[in-house]
Amino acid sequence: MKRLLIAIALSAFSIATTGFAQDLRSVMKNMGIHLKLISNQVTDPAKNQNSLTLADELLKSTQEARGLIPDTVTSLPSSEQPARAALYVKMIDHTADLIQQLIDALQKNDNAKAKQLVDSLVQTKKDGHGEFN
Ligand code: HEM
Repeated sequence: MKRLLIAIALSAFSIATTGFAQDLRSVMKNMGIHLKLISNQVTDPAKNQNSLTLADELLKSTQEARGLIPDTVTSLPSSEQPARAALYVKMIDHTADLIQQLIDALQKNDNAKAKQLVDSLVQTKKDGHGEFN
């Protein structure tokens, strides 16, 4: 019985910590935090290992955002939704591609390239928000 209770408690904990899908707002909030932290240290090669961990998190959130179509799309007439959803996915895929390039640059300790990629990500964020916020 004690074991059963422990098993139930553990599975409840794991659902609470890893379980349900987040909404787009929370996922984007995480992206904002991670990009800011990377941006603060991207020119410092001593921080590259930590920047790589942050960039992995940023990539995971971006992949999660891909499946979460914004309210500004789902509230459109149904005939307009497919084209807007496709544009959303395209812009998110471009974001993921830039993050993968950022990971490659950090792995090579190419901090000049990494800085350029962070600037491109900031621009992509502005473009995405211009279209969908
Ligand atoms: C690295 C790039 C990006 C970062 C760091 C980022 C960050 C953020 C942040 C901080 C928010 C505000 C969350 C809040 O209200 O607390 C947000 C919201 C949002 N972003 Fe992004 N974003 C990025 C790229 C994009 C792209 C490319 C798109 C669209 C293709 C996009 C679409 C949205 C939408 C639709 C919201 C509103 C979500 C809602 O409140 O339901 N973002 N983003």
